[in-house]
Amino acid sequence: MRIVLVGPPGAGKGTQAAFLAKNLSIPHISTGDLFRANISKGTELGRKAKAIMEAGQLVPDEITIAMAQDRMEQADAAGGFLLDGFPRNVSQAEALDAYLKAGDLKLDAVLDLEVEEDEVVKRIAGRRVCRNDSSHVFHVTYAAPKAEGVCDTCGGELYQRGDDSEETVRNRLDVYHTQTEPIIDYYKAQGLLVTIPALGEVADVTQRAMDALKK
Ligand code: AP5
Ligand code: ZN
Repeated sequence: MRIVLVGPPGAGKGTQAAFLAKNLSIPHISTGDLFRANISKGTELGRKAKAIMEAGQLVPDEITIAMAQDRMEQADAAGGFLLDGFPRNVSQAEALDAYLKAGDLKLDAVLDLEVEEDEVVKRIAGRRVCRNDSSHVFHVTYAAPKAEGVCDTCGGELYQRGDDSEETVRNRLDVYHTQTEPIIDYYKAQGLLVTIPALGEVADVTQRAMDALKK
């Protein structure tokens, strides 16, 4: 199965991707997590991405597409993937189509997590992530860790992402509206788009997504 998750920053893509990937037994590919892992390891790719991410802008397509394609090839060898944060503009969506076409592969669905802007701002303001693994995600009130500042999954220290500052969040939302939202129409035209209301309990949102995928 091949699924794309879209939605504004803070919509819950990473949170839902963790459950959906587990339920569907497919690898979760998050370009944001891949960039953050490169930044913590101090790789050349991480050095290139750091300042751009902190400004809330998109990392250039040539870097992002090559990195995503490399992971998709590995994942496809195991039967599919769940993409989170990629594609993020129309040229990345076209690159994904070219990748799929070359392998005679198809997307099963594009799930659009729909949440209004004041809620995503609250979700981002309270988000805390683990220094060891940025896919370990908490929220100070909505998903509080058992011990303050400590990751339930691995015991690592929780911190606030550098790009979760108020100013950067505003830039990320602008970038989402101008560059990412056009892919919603792109996938609607392909008959792949499914809108998932993403307010409410995490488990209820997962259930809505699972129900939509069964149809
Ligand atoms: P990325 O890491 O992809 O960030 P994003 O898209 O802005 O999304 P977020 O990680 O902010 O939010 P999310 O939707 O995953 O929400 P989460 O589950 O954490 O990208 C970061 C940067 O990397 C980009 O700005 C760009 O610079 C670069 N980049 C990445 N991909 C790129 C690409 N393809 N091209 C170019 N550049 C790229 O949830 C948020 C919070 O809400 C958490 O605290 C969570 O606990 C809580 N929460 C989740 N669900 C619920 C719920 N149902 N109820 C209450 N709280 C909830
Ligand atoms: Zn952790």
